Amino acid sequence: MQRKRPEDLRSHRWYGVPTLRAFGHRSRSAQMGYAREDYAGKPVIAVVNTWSEINPCHGHFRQRAEEVKRGIWQAGGFPVELPAMSLSEPFQKPSTMLYRNFLAMETEELLRSHPVDGVVLMGGCDKTTPALVMGALSMNLPAIFMPAGPMLRGHWRGEHLGSGSDTWKYWDELRSGRISEQDWEEIENGIARSPGHCMTMGTASTMTSAVEALGLCLPGAASIPAADAGHARMAVACGRRIVDMVWQDITPRSLLDARSFDNAITTVLALGGSTNAVIHLVAMARRAGVPLTMDRFDELARRTPVLADLRPAGRFLMEDFYYAGGLRALLSRLPDLLHLDAVTVAGVTLGEAIAGVSCVNDEVIRRRDDPLVACDGLAVLRGSLAPDGAVIKPAAAEAHLLRHTGRALVFDTRADMAARIDDPDLDVDADSVLVLRNAGPQGAPGMPEWGQLPIPKKLLAAGVRDMLRISDARMSGTSYGACVLHVAPESHIGGPLALVRDGDLIAIDVEARRLDLLVDEDELAARRAAWQRPAPHYRRGWGRLFIEHVTQANEGCDFDFLEGDAPTDEPDIF
Ligand code: FES
Repeated sequence: MQRKRPEDLRSHRWYGVPTLRAFGHRSRSAQMGYAREDYAGKPVIAVVNTWSEINPCHGHFRQRAEEVKRGIWQAGGFPVELPAMSLSEPFQKPSTMLYRNFLAMETEELLRSHPVDGVVLMGGCDKTTPALVMGALSMNLPAIFMPAGPMLRGHWRGEHLGSGSDTWKYWDELRSGRISEQDWEEIENGIARSPGHCMTMGTASTMTSAVEALGLCLPGAASIPAADAGHARMAVACGRRIVDMVWQDITPRSLLDARSFDNAITTVLALGGSTNAVIHLVAMARRAGVPLTMDRFDELARRTPVLADLRPAGRFLMEDFYYAGGLRALLSRLPDLLHLDAVTVAGVTLGEAIAGVSCVNDEVIRRRDDPLVACDGLAVLRGSLAPDGAVIKPAAAEAHLLRHTGRALVFDTRADMAARIDDPDLDVDADSVLVLRNAGPQGAPGMPEWGQLPIPKKLLAAGVRDMLRISDARMSGTSYGACVLHVAPESHIGGPLALVRDGDLIAIDVEARRLDLLVDEDELAARRAAWQRPAPHYRRGWGRLFIEHVTQANEGCDFDFLEGDAPTDEPDIF
């Protein structure tokens, strides 16, 4: 394999040339305590660190950054840590999805504007993974993703608690009076016990696993719990490997093609992963110049079994998954459904990465002849209510709701829903279809995870645990229920969801992949003519930029001016 020479390095333009500017770069490096031999002729590796004091999922990243840097020094590189927006899922409002493109853009510009030859991307909390990868794909320097790893299992009175899933479950139990305030407080202190991202098969575990299957992580990396010593060793190995990748000029776009994305989608489906992966993988594929639509998820879902028995769809947690053999063990059960010749950052194919790995627990990672769900872990629906598509996780819904017709009960905004949902006089029954609008990419904006609409209190008390719910929002990967999500086009731009009124009949047929509003066309035309677009939520700043440029859910919610794989524009250095 052809190796770069030191003078071929991108950073050479900053440090190695006889110019006034290069003098400045070297003298300022000396100011920071570096001698020329520390960096001269070496690959400069950015360690993009999404640590912050208010992101518990990345609480170990200060230490991990030092471990990544240790590996970079060992391999003869020069590490430079660059802090980036942390996207703290639990704290940032209205949704970190409003800022995914911010971090993607920040990553691209950090890499573009600094003397960087390669990058280790440190992320894991929900949107950080797609954001970092999107930015790195656009810049297309050698890149390796270091996943944060899941936190340890939660505990309460001998039970294992799962992030998100058990929060929703016990919140409903509290609202229906089945547990006490004291119980609730104990759960609060037991559900998150260590650094690391959510340990259910939520968006974080889904996306880090998908990125490993894409080939952008070291094999096995995504399943290692954050608190495990193996996680620190993996961080060092990322540092060592990226230096070689620079010399060999292994860039992300040289690794990724349609086969890689098929592998990532199959992985998401076999894990029973988050619906959010649909949006993020479409956005990532567009950055990589790989054609991908939502329909590919539906095609692959029809043949892919759900093998991971992980919450919210199943019983176990990521710590159990790791002990069972982790992602490689799962993939080793799907060789006929994967493109084993796809290449990875490790310099081996996916097939080589999973060769010889065995599964040690058939309950956590089910056998092919005993799947958790035989197929259709995810379905893409179309119809008069969602001309450009919508998604549902059939396995997370009560079966009788997968073919259902019911009267719509419409909430115009989340505030409207919060104000009325528990009203004892609400005109609702178990067959009603709850509709939430103005929760999409432009309408909310930022498409928050509001799609698991709460069951009205009076129905909860009557024992109802699932209802058909429809919105243009997303749903947390740790949520569950008969929730139709990502309805496109969204209501805020006049999609059919904007025209639904209380009492209209809505029909879903998941097997036929249909979602229809049963109102005749003349009536809909009259409603459309009378419809007025709501005022935008943000009039300045990032929110305004977001509303003006974000694309719809079926297109990945990227910014229109960031999509595509145009060649990188390099800065002038004068
Ligand atoms: Fe960070 Fe769930 S809150 S991954």
